Amino acid sequence: MTDNKDLEAEIHPLKNEDRKSQENLGNQSKNEENLKSKPLQSRLSRCRTVAFFLSLFICFFVVFVISFIIPCPDRPSSQGTWRLDYNSAVPYHFLAMGDVNRDKIQDVLFLYKNTNSSNNFTRSCADEGFSTPCAFVAAVSGANGSVLWERPVAQDVALVKCAMPQPSDSEVSSACILVGRLGSFIAVNLFTGQTLWNHSSSLGGNASILSPLIQVPDVDGDGAPDLLILTREGQEVSGAIYSGSTGYQIGHRGSLGVDGNGGALLHVTRTGAHYILLPCASALCGFSVKGLYERVTGKDGQLKEDSYWENMLNSSAHRRLLHSSGAVRYLMNVPGKSGQDVLLVSSEACMLLDGQDLMPRWTLGATQVLRKPILGHYKPDTLAVVIENGTSIDRQILLLDLSTGSMLWSQSLPSLPGGPPSTSLMTADHRSAFFFWGLHELVGTNEMDPQDMQLSLYMFHPTLPGILLELANVSANIVAFDAILFEPSRHAAYVLLTGPASADMPGLVSVIKHKVRDLVPGSRVVHLGEGSSDSDQAIRDRFSRLRYRSEV
Ligand SMILES: *[C@@H]1O[C@H](CO)[C@@H](O)[C@H](O)[C@H]1NC(C)=O
Ligand SMILES: *[C@@H]1O[C@H](CO)[C@@H](O)[C@H](O)[C@H]1NC(C)=O
Ligand SMILES: *[C@@H]1O[C@H](CO)[C@@H](O)[C@H](O)[C@H]1NC(C)=O
Ligand SMILES: *[C@@H]1O[C@H](CO)[C@@H](O)[C@H](O)[C@H]1NC(C)=O
Ligand SMILES: *[C@@H]1O[C@H](CO)[C@@H](O)[C@H](O)[C@H]1NC(C)=O
Ligand SMILES: *[C@@H]1O[C@H](CO)[C@@H](O)[C@H](O)[C@H]1NC(C)=O
Ligand SMILES: *[C@@H]1O[C@H](CO)[C@@H](O)[C@H](O)[C@H]1NC(C)=O
Ligand SMILES: *[C@@H]1O[C@H](CO)[C@@H](O)[C@H](O)[C@H]1NC(C)=O
Repeated sequence: MTDNKDLEAEIHPLKNEDRKSQENLGNQSKNEENLKSKPLQSRLSRCRTVAFFLSLFICFFVVFVISFIIPCPDRPSSQGTWRLDYNSAVPYHFLAMGDVNRDKIQDVLFLYKNTNSSNNFTRSCADEGFSTPCAFVAAVSGANGSVLWERPVAQDVALVKCAMPQPSDSEVSSACILVGRLGSFIAVNLFTGQTLWNHSSSLGGNASILSPLIQVPDVDGDGAPDLLILTREGQEVSGAIYSGSTGYQIGHRGSLGVDGNGGALLHVTRTGAHYILLPCASALCGFSVKGLYERVTGKDGQLKEDSYWENMLNSSAHRRLLHSSGAVRYLMNVPGKSGQDVLLVSSEACMLLDGQDLMPRWTLGATQVLRKPILGHYKPDTLAVVIENGTSIDRQILLLDLSTGSMLWSQSLPSLPGGPPSTSLMTADHRSAFFFWGLHELVGTNEMDPQDMQLSLYMFHPTLPGILLELANVSANIVAFDAILFEPSRHAAYVLLTGPASADMPGLVSVIKHKVRDLVPGSRVVHLGEGSSDSDQAIRDRFSRLRYRSEV
């Protein structure tokens, strides 16, 4: 707009000048001798005209250069669908995303055990000193499914954690750390797949490794977060801390004096103290990272302890923080009003615990939850928790308001035991799209052989609470699943890792990406009860128009 005005302002004086200069020219030829000041004036105005056209030309030239000659930075084009197959392999239950090739499109990391040495590899098991079959890590371009790097990492993998660098982080944290079943320990560079460090067996002889691999704050003062591995021998859980930058053990192994089967969680109290929460026989046990560090090294750590928690732990015999009705199955951190709260799922109930005093905020009894809950937004900007009550034919999906525990939505959706997890993606309206897996036939499943049943992927959006959109049918065995935003604020797609369920029977392993929007036109609209007067096509159009946003 302002450019136009400027042009206008420049054009009008030009007209006047032109007229004047034309007049001048005419006058010049007629009475050249009459006036002495006129040639001077006309030369002056000609100069101004030339200067004006020259600057106009430069302006247009610059506009031309900017708009046509200098190309816009190329947006890498991304394929909506791709698929990568491995013959005679076995997948692990692991899928991670991150921008490995730095093209601003998320890439896919996964693990598989390869038994076919004639598959196309840059490195074989033997090259890394393993016997075949061994475990490989692969990073695959999210844009087109081409392999960015892949390499053998262990004979067999027990734990894996891939940490994406945060803007403030150093390169050290952009690594995948893998713990082998026999205790080998390796960190590979996320961007290249090269070894950052590797150590052979460092875990005690008969100890079994408990999941997960826990990243604790920097305890040895080298600037990198450190690692905690819990192991169990007999009835006793012990912990060992490893340097995140070198993989060397810090101190010795320390017994925690509790029983447990894993599922530990790092929790930060309101006062900034780090505690490990660990399910132990019908209770929640805990210990401070500082206390463990002091125990294994005999030195003072810089980390904090929380006096309220220390009193709680001091007054109980077996480091118990909370008695739970039934065994604790899942623990997860959830955002609270001020800091982290803890969602605890036991065999009898689900409850939200205050992150500081561990008092239950709400409890939902009478649930049989065999799957870790996920979070999403049912109402704009308000967190909801998705709980799966029951398995198989009896499974119900419950959406609860996270802060109050009140039921927002529930739907029975039969599935198979051990079916893929649900997931959610935030949409532009500050709600979430939810993705659930369920059996295609919602009735009469009792007589069918589970082997023949296909699972269907359903999409749900809170603005259409009476609708499930069946996006796809999958008959292969799904080992891992996730729905993610491949590019910021656009391009939502799901990734499936399928393959044989048993390590004894290698087979076809596939990684598949499907753009969600491409699946909507061919989807099946499932009406949950009455109430929706829209046509199926109108509903598909509404799902097609959904826009996604990156979570902050
Ligand atoms: C091993 O891989 C090659 C090449 O991909 C394939 O031709 C062959 O059939 C595979 N062998 C087995 C046993 O799957
Ligand atoms: C196999 O590797 C060769 C060279 O290493 C490469 O040219 C070819 O494209 C690869 N094939 C596949 C299917 O990855
Ligand atoms: C680990 O390091 C040793 C040498 O220290 C090397 O021989 C071995 O190949 C490495 N293993 C892996 C998986 O990188
Ligand atoms: C996939 O994309 C990468 C860049 O992201 C490119 O280098 C590669 O050639 C592409 N591969 C195929 C098979 O299109
Ligand atoms: C491992 O367990 C076996 C039998 O359970 C025992 O004989 C052996 O001493 C144990 N090894 C270690 C290192 O504890
Ligand atoms: C915990 O108890 C021990 C003695 O059993 C005592 O020395 C210590 O000061 C107590 N710690 C706290 C934080 O109360
Ligand atoms: C969970 O499912 C069981 C039976 O499968 C049912 O009795 C119970 O009421 C359900 N809980 C909730 C909160 O809906
Ligand atoms: C899934 O399969 C059923 C029949 O088995 C079919 O009616 C339905 O349309 C399929 N859904 C999709 C999304 O292809």
